[in-house]
Amino acid sequence: MKSGAGSSRGLRIALIAVCSAAGLLAAGFGICAVKLKTAGDSFAITDSLMKAQQRETEQSISGLRSQLKAQQEQAAGVESQLAQWERRAMDAESRSSKLESENSALQSEIDRLKSAAQSPSAPDNRKLIALTFDDGPGDTTSRLLDELKKRNMKATFFVVGNRVNRYVSTLKRASDEGHEIGTHTYSHPNLTRLSRQEKADEIQRSIQAITAITGQPITLLRPPGGSYDDELKAYCSEQNLRIIYWSVDTRDWESHNKSSILSTAFQSGPYGVRNGAIVLMHDIYPDTVDAAVEMMDRLQKEGYTTVTVSELLRIRKNGGIAGEVYTSALPQ
Ligand code: NI
Repeated sequence: MKSGAGSSRGLRIALIAVCSAAGLLAAGFGICAVKLKTAGDSFAITDSLMKAQQRETEQSISGLRSQLKAQQEQAAGVESQLAQWERRAMDAESRSSKLESENSALQSEIDRLKSAAQSPSAPDNRKLIALTFDDGPGDTTSRLLDELKKRNMKATFFVVGNRVNRYVSTLKRASDEGHEIGTHTYSHPNLTRLSRQEKADEIQRSIQAITAITGQPITLLRPPGGSYDDELKAYCSEQNLRIIYWSVDTRDWESHNKSSILSTAFQSGPYGVRNGAIVLMHDIYPDTVDAAVEMMDRLQKEGYTTVTVSELLRIRKNGGIAGEVYTSALPQ
């Protein structure tokens, strides 16, 4: 009996041991499971955190991007504003420099006028002479124009109206080269034998024929043969025409001789060449042109300046008065 009771107790102990071991094992599994679960949860938490952080980062990046865009737009706006200001500054600068130069031009003009007012302008001491040629244009006029041009001299041509259509280019050339064109009437009549209306017709017809070619106004009349009367003077006064006579009559139309023309022109006294004289010649004669060429060289040597009649009147007679007769314009 005793040995029987002892073996059953050993079996109980063994069972308890086995059970304990099983219990321990089960507990161990339990703990492991809990641990594993905890680890899984921990992974899930970390993942969602990261996602949230990522979203947050993405949002802040997009925020920064839109901020940057706004700043870029602002910068572009500022830049265009600056460019506008720069343009305005440049405009203002160019306006200011323009004003400055205008101002300095005005100032120098004021200075010039002031000094002119303080000291009256020096009198024109040049020896002036007006060469005048009547009855043209003619075949010899072009040669005379060549010679005048060579010497840069100006003359006055008293043209006959009914001749101009035959010498259109000659007349145009004379005018274009700075010579003065006056009227010598349309058909060269003695004006004192005509009625007032006939005088007017002769003069107006010639002025129309000449100005149609030259385009220049006419302010001088040389009456054919030098014949004038009070009626003509009154008409010229109305028509802004000065009556131009002469102080030197070369009588070239009579002599047709170069040396005779020259000796007549250069005679001493009031009928010869002198300062302010008006010389009468006719450009339709070859001898006259020959004489005129020598006359020009001699005048140049003697220190004369040849001017048109209007220039002579402008310098010496304040332009002259319409209807008045001028034979010369001597220095005062
Ligand atoms: Ni004549």
